[in-house]
Amino acid sequence: IENQLAEGPLVGRKIVVTSGPTHEPIDPVRYIANRSSGAQGTAIARTLAMLGAEVVFVTGPAEEPRPEGVHIVEVQTAQQMMEAVSAAMPADAAVFAAAVADWRVDGASGSKIKKQDGKIPSLSFSENPDILASVSQAKSDRPKLVVGFAAETDDVVENATKKRLRKGCDWIVANDVSPETGIMGGKENAVVLISDDGAEHWPRMSKDAVAQQLAERIANALG
Ligand code: CTP
Ligand code: CA
Repeated sequence: IENQLAEGPLVGRKIVVTSGPTHEPIDPVRYIANRSSGAQGTAIARTLAMLGAEVVFVTGPAEEPRPEGVHIVEVQTAQQMMEAVSAAMPADAAVFAAAVADWRVDGASGSKIKKQDGKIPSLSFSENPDILASVSQAKSDRPKLVVGFAAETDDVVENATKKRLRKGCDWIVANDVSPETGIMGGKENAVVLISDDGAEHWPRMSKDAVAQQLAERIANALG
């Protein structure tokens, strides 16, 4: 990697960051996905690298330009993201900012599905692997610090607190992505950091500022 920093609090640390949506194909021209610009994950990866970390950035097809100074692994599907994250282990920390599709389409067609006499196709789904849970609960080589995200529209702190315990991660960065907040696709974020110590409400600030604060916290936690 060019521009790998020689100093900073995260020199010598390897951190895996997931970002963006995943695309789950229906056929070669159609897919299902979550909404995610990749802006917050990209800002986090860039900031960790600026603090000296070796960053493996595993990204789905996000519109945000890729950050500089990181190893970039491009994937499409949740299963590919899982494989890329496994291949990047071990790491000192992992940050899961991706909006992973919870389900994939069974029997995705290798050729384009054509409209036929008004017949509507029906889709069936299988559940995708939970990458955050699997890394959090790894029996060996678990990163010292595992950070998940929770984009919620209701009962943000309650849902995210339960999610943290269910997945087994150390921290959850939770936010309210209800349309009226304008956070999805916007430049700002208002997050709650959920940890063993409870829920810490951060003021609304730019996604870059959230990344900066989070990266500093990560550096402190890794010591
Ligand atoms: N995540 C993951 N792999 C998945 C699903 C989610 O790694 N298959 C990660 C996300 O990147 C995020 C965290 O888990 O860091 C929480 O994602 P979220 O979708 O909020 O959690 P779910 O358990 O899928 O719950 P929900 O029913 O609310 O979607
Ligand atoms: Ca989900």
